[in-house]
Amino acid sequence: MSDRVVVAGAVYDQGRLLAARRSAPPELAGRWELPGGKLEPGESGEQALVRELREELGVETEPLERIPGEWPLGPGYVLQVWTARLVSGVPAPLQDHDELRWLGPGEGDEIDWLDQDRPAVAEAMRRLPAG
Ligand code: CDP
Repeated sequence: MSDRVVVAGAVYDQGRLLAARRSAPPELAGRWELPGGKLEPGESGEQALVRELREELGVETEPLERIPGEWPLGPGYVLQVWTARLVSGVPAPLQDHDELRWLGPGEGDEIDWLDQDRPAVAEAMRRLPAG
């Protein structure tokens, strides 16, 4: 059995990276993540990412590229991350999150990221487009 995939987005706008603080479940609440969720049957990673960011944040995004690698999330799940561009809308914490933050250059270490997100976040900050 292959692992199930959770996709997450390193969403960029105006030279900053979007971070989202989880409100649930209790063991993850208060930690920051790249927003995303589980791939549904028949979806590509890019399709799942666009859907999850629409559901969770109310925005339209365009996936740019996959950050190489995947990271274990505990039994049966792996995390894959894409960079993405904000196309329209203003992100709002509609589900799963209680706060959002835009991080500029050098601000990637200012928040308490979920451990499993850290390698992808470091890569995403390195790829931050110019504002
Ligand atoms: O929204 P959905 O139920 O599809 O998924 P989720 O609850 O947002 O994420 C599924 C699992 O992946 C949870 O255990 C999250 O903590 C984990 N996850 C993560 O570790 N890092 C992310 N950037 C996104 C999700």
